[in-house]
Formats: sequence, structure tokens, C-alpha cells
Amino acid sequence: MPYIARINSTAHKAYAMRTLLFLNADSTLKPLAIELSLPHPDGEKYGAVSKVYSAAENGVDGSLWQLAKAYVGVMDVGVHQLVSHWLGTHAILEPFIIATNRHLSVVHPINKLLTPHYRDTMNINALARQSLISADGILEKTSVQGKFALEYSSWVYKNHWNLVDQALPDDLVKRGVAVRDQNGELSLLIKDYPYAEDGLQIWKAIETWVTEYCAIYYPSDDALRADAELQAWWKEIRDVGHSDKKDEAWWPKMETVSELTQSCTTIIWLASAFHAVINFGQYPYGGYVPNRPTISRRLVPEPGTPEHDLLEKNPDKVFLRTISSQYQTIIGVSLLEILSTHASDEVYLGQRDTPEWTTDQKALEAFQRFGKALKSIEDDINKKNADPSLKNRNGPAKMPFTLLFPSSEVGITGKGIPNSVSI
Ligand SMILES: [Fe+2]
Repeated sequence: MPYIARINSTAHKAYAMRTLLFLNADSTLKPLAIELSLPHPDGEKYGAVSKVYSAAENGVDGSLWQLAKAYVGVMDVGVHQLVSHWLGTHAILEPFIIATNRHLSVVHPINKLLTPHYRDTMNINALARQSLISADGILEKTSVQGKFALEYSSWVYKNHWNLVDQALPDDLVKRGVAVRDQNGELSLLIKDYPYAEDGLQIWKAIETWVTEYCAIYYPSDDALRADAELQAWWKEIRDVGHSDKKDEAWWPKMETVSELTQSCTTIIWLASAFHAVINFGQYPYGGYVPNRPTISRRLVPEPGTPEHDLLEKNPDKVFLRTISSQYQTIIGVSLLEILSTHASDEVYLGQRDTPEWTTDQKALEAFQRFGKALKSIEDDINKKNADPSLKNRNGPAKMPFTLLFPSSEVGITGKGIPNSVSI
């Protein structure tokens, strides 16, 4: 709410919002109502001024519902780009990359495990600092948070970011879309939930690979505790890289092999699959801006105003005046197009650009099993996408969910999991 007041003091106009969706028996979601809130003009202690809009097809109510959905989309785009994408992958990986280079020698097994997942990340982040996340940069120009965009992202890091919660199973439980039974087995509360379904398969494949690999070099917890390089690595990640969060209770202590495998699985998941699913669908899903605007410039017209009269006569005009302008649209779409494109030299999950990365036979065999597991996930994804009973796999636009399909060709393909955050 404090950010809404500040955003609305600029040319951007936004609401805090809550959306109520009904979960149908076939796993599809039906939006029922949207609550749009503004700060109370007399101060925070009076709460918020809220209005609820319900789903409507026709007339002024239909036009208001269309606008309400746009305000929700606009805020969602901001969270997606600033929190899920920039903060959740690009920014938080830097301390891991730096500490790995400083403390793990190139022949250290954990260096060999993680290095492919750091490829080009510092480089792309340096470029982002020049033009994307800089003051007056592209993200300020194309997100509703405007000049508060990066401050907002930092606020979320400071108040909410936690490495342990970024593990996919924990994230799903925390968001209330999965539960764990007494044996720790996870079950999804939305049965046909493509991101979670494919994601858990990829997560498990990474976890198995990392567990098998770490077991080769750390036969016991004692061996791990005695590894001075590894301990110095973790200490720097926590105490220097993430120094403002170093005293938080959730940090793994790095005393057991399972803490190492969980942490490495999470790092690899974030750098590869999580970044891919967030990033490479941006143009395919968000490239048509009226369907997914990134900015709102006006509030909902109040009854009795000329703008409200116009809403009755020409709702499309009001809609277009409200969402991203043509200039903002062109910058935004260009950005989405660049971000969604796979380079020709991309290295995908399950691949290495240097076949001689290790001569350890056991490690090579485990890596081969990882590649086979990913291939069989591809077959599963194809099968699920062809099953008409799974309605969320294709949606009303008949666009199959392929964002977690591991391999891809060059270009904008809406699929492919590169090893690292490189765009
Ligand atoms: Fe990215």
C-alpha cells in the first residue's frame, strides 16, 4: 500500500489488488471477483478504500471487469519481472558465483558441478545494470512501479527472500498449492497444474543427479565438514554475499551432505529451469500487450464523470488510454522479444560444453543418467500436452505448455532450459 501511494504520485496509476478464483473440478480456474484498493486519503490507520468488481460480459459492468483484469495483470507483470525474474534468478545468483570463484578451485568437485550454471550470468547482469535496471532504464519505463521498481525489488529481497523457500517443493507448499503428508510425500491441490507437474519432474531429476554426484566425493558428513574450501565458500555466501541476511535462522549450516545436495539442487534449479520458465515464455504469452499490459496510466472512471460517460460509449478508447502507451508498448515488446530468444550457442540442461570436464567415471555415468531422465521428461511432456482431458496444458488459446521442455532450437521457441541465466 505505501508503494501504491508513491506510484500514484507519478504518471503511473495503480491499485493494490486481490483476485478471487474458483477452482473447477477439471482443474481450470474461473475468475470471480477482483478487489481494487487505494490508500485511505486520511491516512493508513483508516485502512484502504476498496471496490470489488465481479465477472461480467456485457455493458458497463463488462467494461469495468475488463479494466479490473488489466490492473491485476499490470501488477502481476511488475512482480514477475522485478521479483520473480530479476531478483529471484539474476540478482540472487551473483553471491554464489562470486564465492565459487573465490573459494573453490577449478578442480574442486562442487566447482565443476556448479560452473556450467553460472555461464554468462555476471556478463548479462553487468549489461542489465547499464540499461535495464538503471535509473531511467527500461524496467522503470516499462513497469508500473516506475522509478520505485528496483527499490521495490530490494524491499522484497530484504523482507521475504530466503534460499530454502526457493526449492520448488517448499515453494509450492508455501504458496498453498501443495501439501505434504506424514511421510513427506507431496501432493498438488490443483491436479492439472503444468508448471508444478513438469517442474517437480525436473526438480527430481536435478536432485537425483546432484545427490549421486555429491555422494562420490563426500562419503560422510565428516568429509564435508573437513573440506576447508567448501566451508569457506559457504561462509562467504552467507556472511559476505548475503551479509544483510546472514543472521537469519533458515540458512543451512553446511554440516551434512544433505544440506549440500539440497543447496546445490536449489542453485541449479534457480539458474536453469526456474529462470527458463519465467523468461522464455515472455514473448509467447505476453507479446500481445492489450492482453498483458505492463503499465496503467489512469484509475477506474468514477460514475458521473465524462470519462465514465466515455466508458459507456467507447470502452475500447478508455481501455487503450488506461494501459501502456504506444511508446511504452514498443519498448516493452522489444524487451520481451530479446529476452525470449535462445542464442545459437546455448547449452541446455543435461549438456556440457566441455566433454572433458571430468575423468571420474562414476560422475560421467551419473551425468548420463541425468541426461536420460531429462529425455524421458520430454516424452512425458509431449504425452501430457496431447491429452485433451488435461485442460490447463493447452488453455483456450490451444498453446501447449512447453516452458519446461528441456531442449530447444535457436530463436523464440517457448521451450528449452538453458543451464544458466544468460539473458
Ligand atoms: Fe533473465
